[in-house]
Amino acid sequence: MIASSPSSSSFVSSALFNPIQIGTHTLEHRIVLCPLNRRRCNEQYAPTDSMVKYYQQRTTPGGLVIGEATMVSATAGAYPFAPGIYTEHQIAQWHKVTDAIHGKKGIVFLQIRHAVRASTTQFLPPGAKLVSASTIPVPGHNELGNDFEIPHALTKQEINDIVNDFVQAAKNAIAAGFDGVEIHGANGKSYLLDQFLNSSSNIRTDVYGGSIENRARFTLQVVKAVTGAIGVERTAIRFSPWSEFLGMEDEKPYETWSYLVNQLEQDYPSMAYIHFIEPRDDFSRKTKNDTQNSLNPFRKLWSGPFISAGGYTTKPDLAFEVASKTGNLIAFGRSFIANPDLVERLKHDWPLNPYNRATFYKGGDEGYINYPFYNSATTAEVDVTKA
Ligand SMILES: Cc1cc2nc3c(=O)[nH]c(=O)nc-3n(C[C@H](O)[C@H](O)[C@H](O)COP(=O)(O)O)c2cc1C
Repeated sequence: MIASSPSSSSFVSSALFNPIQIGTHTLEHRIVLCPLNRRRCNEQYAPTDSMVKYYQQRTTPGGLVIGEATMVSATAGAYPFAPGIYTEHQIAQWHKVTDAIHGKKGIVFLQIRHAVRASTTQFLPPGAKLVSASTIPVPGHNELGNDFEIPHALTKQEINDIVNDFVQAAKNAIAAGFDGVEIHGANGKSYLLDQFLNSSSNIRTDVYGGSIENRARFTLQVVKAVTGAIGVERTAIRFSPWSEFLGMEDEKPYETWSYLVNQLEQDYPSMAYIHFIEPRDDFSRKTKNDTQNSLNPFRKLWSGPFISAGGYTTKPDLAFEVASKTGNLIAFGRSFIANPDLVERLKHDWPLNPYNRATFYKGGDEGYINYPFYNSATTAEVDVTKA
């Protein structure tokens, strides 16, 4: 890390290294592995041995690992080599990952998602449709280079079916050894719940559209069903009020997400955690790198553990500052990709490896499990903020 502050001696004593309780688990520090889809699964959308190694490398005793976005059903919008949690094979392969993490005394949640209008029907089972809140396609081109398809607007019955898919996925995650699940309510490009939340992608006129209460209804239905199935302390959720990724935008982000957090605080105060992406997040280089807005209003509404993510890769010192000011857990994405021993590096103020964007989704072990661990004899100081 190119660290300017705080001073080296204050790193270990930073709030980042204070224990915290999430659900029934005591974490030994507050550095979290972000959910990071890397498309390293086999053709059955199940984790591989390389994935076991990747997660094991990034596990620390008492550290929280969030498993990458994982499809709740075969019709949830497949991406090649991205994981699912709806077959026996997938559950068995995920169990190898959770065993490896537990073997190092880590805690692991799985992010469960329904990916939709940004997929293509080519990646779905025969007869399955791309779905969303409304018939509004993502602007631009999909990964096959074609215009995004116009999604089918879900009926109420189809919404109920998807709630049941989330429940089954959560149960399957517990069967696979996960300590809990993180419901994916963020990054609306790929994720259905966020497409219902944002006014730009939801123009429904039924009880799932229009008012904030209506747009939040599906998300809260999923929370209710999942907490009922696996327990409130094993359930968490991720949000991104300012994600404008592929056409997402909300007219009144403070009001919309305050309503959600108020509902969660009122009905599910012992949820394991809530996880927010910072407005300054710029991981895709398509977002606006907002420095005007803040998560503080949401922090004030939630009394449980709060994870802040986004932008700590380019400004690692901010992690120390935000943890000290807020007591939040801090999730790292790209720098955890490039630094399997990120926790140790932050603790000792050791330099960070730069990440290689070209290998994020490339497949294979390069740029996946071959990033070097810190070695004082061979590591040159590199500026991660320029990668
Ligand atoms: C390769 C890659 C894959 C990602 N996959 C997911 C995902 O599966 N689920 C999710 O919510 N966010 C995903 N994200 C976003 C990250 O979780 C995180 O919010 C983002 O990288 C910002 O953190 P950073 O600035 O530390 O990289 C992904 C980001 C990258 C770079």
